[in-house]
Amino acid sequence: MKVSVSKAPLNVHALEAIGFFVPKTSKEKSATALSALAGVVATGLDGDFKANEGDVLTLYPQKENFNAKRVMTLGVGETFSIDALRKSAAAFATKVREMKLPKVGLDLTDLESIAQATNEDEAYLAQVVVEGFEFGLYDFNKLKTDRVQALKNKKHKSEPKFEFKELVLITTASSLKAVQKGAEVGEIIGSTQSMVRDLINSPSNYMTATDLANAAKESGKKYGYKVTVLDKKKIQQLNMGGLLGVNKGSTEPPTFSILDYTPTGKPKATIALVGKGITFDTGGISLKPSENMSDMKSDMSGAADVIGAVEIAARLKLPIRVLGFIPATDNKPSGSAQNPGDVLTTYSGITVEVDNTDAEGRLILADALTYAIENYKPDVIIDLATLTGACVVALGYQAAGLFTNNDELAEKLLKAGFRSGEKVWRLPLWDDYDKQIKSEVADVKNTGGKGAGAITAAKFLEKFIGDHKAWAHIDIAGPSFPSLGASGAKSSSGFGVRLLAEVLRSWN
Ligand code: BES
Ligand code: MN
Ligand code: ZN
Repeated sequence: MKVSVSKAPLNVHALEAIGFFVPKTSKEKSATALSALAGVVATGLDGDFKANEGDVLTLYPQKENFNAKRVMTLGVGETFSIDALRKSAAAFATKVREMKLPKVGLDLTDLESIAQATNEDEAYLAQVVVEGFEFGLYDFNKLKTDRVQALKNKKHKSEPKFEFKELVLITTASSLKAVQKGAEVGEIIGSTQSMVRDLINSPSNYMTATDLANAAKESGKKYGYKVTVLDKKKIQQLNMGGLLGVNKGSTEPPTFSILDYTPTGKPKATIALVGKGITFDTGGISLKPSENMSDMKSDMSGAADVIGAVEIAARLKLPIRVLGFIPATDNKPSGSAQNPGDVLTTYSGITVEVDNTDAEGRLILADALTYAIENYKPDVIIDLATLTGACVVALGYQAAGLFTNNDELAEKLLKAGFRSGEKVWRLPLWDDYDKQIKSEVADVKNTGGKGAGAITAAKFLEKFIGDHKAWAHIDIAGPSFPSLGASGAKSSSGFGVRLLAEVLRSWN
């Protein structure tokens, strides 16, 4: 998406539409201003437009010297906040996509006062607006052809897909620099999140472990960071028993991708990110029910987020080293699949009783966590995984579960969650839960029985970090692929990309 910034007056832009943010508290003021500016029938603001967060009303200018075709009022709820601005910009973009408007503007001439009211700097607000717009514009349509439409209409003329061209941020001379800076960051984060959503939404026949590794390689090549892919043979040589155990039932070979963005100059810190890359989770021999099983194409959300986060670090040239580790395979039942009760030896040497083959995420993550820590000695290690249904029960689709052995890291992640609009909420890692994953036959068991399923999964992972002092596990099972998204559509949110971007960007 192209984003440009202009300080030319609002009335001169020949655009399909200009969006105006309207909080409830200044609805009247906005109505008066808009009728003076564009001659729109502002009485519409009273009844049809409540200015609730996400409300969009389309009005048609009457003034001869107002060059945009439409004025859209964008409700932000009670008052301005970064969250409300992001959501309101997203609602605008969704409308723009539905109406197929290729070039629109957004009024940011009041940015200075919004910055004062929200206590945020102008660049950050512009960033948030662009991220939100990109988010709302997103639509997974790459597997749709124009042909279907053409055949149905018995016309042999193809109808081209809508392609959005340009967003113009209209601001004042004094805010111009800040808006340019923020918009640039917002475009990088927003477009990366869209790429990540494409990876997650891709069905499993378009997203094998090899495809996922290729996506990492492609990103590395495009943005100048190193990607190494370990193949099945190498994974066997390394004795990654967790990844190999899950892969046993598959006809697709596993991959283990290592992404490495190293800045020029001495890095301020080394941060390792580990992402669960289950390209499809049938449950294995402990087969899942078929209802909604197709959602399990998104079980590589953590992996996709990690590709996105390393990509953003590279594009923004952050002064930290960011590493990504992606163990990938599907989880399938077959004659060669592992059985419940099997015992695996993981990369760490720790043995695991596979009580349930559907608790596969923790098996592949176990290998990746130990591998990353032993071979790269990162200052901080964070894993992201669509790990448990129990976490969805605990926190719903609104927040991810956070588990960490480090209070300072917890603070950082909680704060980044609020700022990025991708919230995390901390759950405990008390040793009281340990007995639930005790095994009779191996060092540990991959299930925790009744109660606290998200916590026992995290306790399992904790066994594989040795004595590392700054590890966090983020269970994104709920928010990554919400069954009730903003649009009501079942699709990936790319949850985690903005959260990680915020954490990495604010690292000090
Ligand atoms: N990928 C699932 C978790 C999941 C569930 C993600 C719902 C997104 C939405 C994971 O591999 C899984 O199957 N977990 C089991 C663990 C259980 C067998 C201990 C679960 O949560 O039921
Ligand atoms: Mn599973
Ligand atoms: Zn899974």
